[in-house]
Amino acid sequence: MAKLTVNELDVAGKRVFVRVDYNVPMEERDGKMVINDSTRIKETLPTLRLLISRGAKIILAAHLGRPKGKREPSMSLQPVATLLAEMLGRPVAFVDDCIGPKVAAAVAALRPGDLLLLENVRYYNEEEANDPAFAEKLAAAADVYVNDAFGSAHRAHASTEGAARAIARRGGPCAAGLLMDRELQYLGKELENPARPFVVILGGAKVSDKIKVIDRLLEKADTLLIGGAMSYTFQLALGQKVGKSLSEPDKKDMALAALAKAKTRGIQFLLPADNILATPVPTGKLNKKGKPVIEFQNVRLQPAGDIPDSQEGLDIDPATSKRYGEIIAQARTILWNGPMGMFEDKRFAAGTLAVAQAVAAATANHAAKSIIGGGDSVKALNQAGLGDKVTFMSTGGGASLEFLEGRVLPGVAALTDK
Ligand code: 3PG
Ligand code: MG
Repeated sequence: MAKLTVNELDVAGKRVFVRVDYNVPMEERDGKMVINDSTRIKETLPTLRLLISRGAKIILAAHLGRPKGKREPSMSLQPVATLLAEMLGRPVAFVDDCIGPKVAAAVAALRPGDLLLLENVRYYNEEEANDPAFAEKLAAAADVYVNDAFGSAHRAHASTEGAARAIARRGGPCAAGLLMDRELQYLGKELENPARPFVVILGGAKVSDKIKVIDRLLEKADTLLIGGAMSYTFQLALGQKVGKSLSEPDKKDMALAALAKAKTRGIQFLLPADNILATPVPTGKLNKKGKPVIEFQNVRLQPAGDIPDSQEGLDIDPATSKRYGEIIAQARTILWNGPMGMFEDKRFAAGTLAVAQAVAAATANHAAKSIIGGGDSVKALNQAGLGDKVTFMSTGGGASLEFLEGRVLPGVAALTDK
C-alpha cells in the first residue's frame, strides 16, 4: 500500500514531529563525543530543507545507542544538533528531554522554518516498550507526523509507531519522509520487476540472519553469489570441514534447503571455490567491548577442500573474486548485502573490495542499477571510496534486511495510506 509522503503535506505554520535515525557511530576523543560517520544525518537534509521551505515548525526525535532507559551522557544527541546546524547552515535548538514542560516551552518558541532536536528518546524505557501514554506525550507537541527513520522502521517503538498512531487518532496526517520514500522505492518497488540478469551478492557472518532473505530472493534473482562467514555453514552442509571458521552447524538444514530450492528453480547459486585462511591465536587480552582479542597468523590461500582444524577462513580467494566480478559485470540489477570477509583487517579485505569495485564498474559501464542493503556493505563501499558510484545505498541495517524479507515494517505500517 502506497503511503502519504511529506511532499503531499501542507505544513505551513504547523508543528511537525519528524522521527529521524540519527543513531550514528560515535567515538570519545579528549573527553568529547565525536561523530565518525554523518551519512544518516546528511540523508535527512532533503526532507528537512523541504519542511523549512514550506514553513513547518520542525521537532526532530531520534535515538542513539541503547541506553536502556538511563540518561547515559555518552549517548546524548547534543553533538548531532551541533553538526546538523553546521550542515544546514541555520540554528538547531536542542532540549535535554523528549517529553514534558521543557519540550512544550521549546516547541512554543518555534517560528515557521525553525528546528528543534529532542534528547535521546531511549533515555526512557517507555520508548522501546511502545508505552501508549509515553507515545501520547511525545506526540503532544505536534500536529503532523513524518517518519524519515528508515533504519529504525523495523522497531515498533513509541517514537516510530505509537506517536504516529496517536497523531492519526486526532486526525493528523502521518507521512513518509523523502529518505524513507527512497528506501522503500529502491529496496521494494525496484526489485519487484528487476532488469535481468538480477544478481544478488550476500555475505556477512550468519546464514540464520539472511536465510529468509535468501529464500525470498531465490524467487526473484537469476544468480546468488555467497561470501563471508556464512559460506562456511554451506560448506559444512555439503560435508566439508571448516576448521575454526565461523559457522552455524545447527543451520545446515537451512543451507541445504536453500541449495535445493536454487536447483529446482534453475538459479545459479555460487559458493566461494577457495578461501583465505589464517591461524587464530588468542592473545589473552580483551577489547573495549570485553571480547577476547584474537591475532591472525600465517595468512595463506587454501585450495578447494577441507579446512584444517587449526585454521579459520576469513575471506574469499582471488579466483572467486574474479569469477564473481565477471558475473557482476553482466548484471543489469545488483543487490549487495554483507561483506565477503573480515574486511576490517586489510589482509582479509581483498574479496570485499573486489566486489565493491565490480559493482561500481557495472553501474558505470552498463548502467546496471546497484542497490546496497545497508550496514557493513555500505561501510566497505565507503572505505573503498566508491560510495557515490552505486545507484543507492540504504541507511538501514536490520531494517533493510527485514524489509527485503518481505516483512511489514511497523514504522511504515503506521503511516497514512494514500
Ligand atoms: C540501527 O542502527 O540498527 C537502528 O538505528 C536501530 O537501532 P537498534 O538496532 O538499536 O534498534
Ligand atoms: Mg540495529
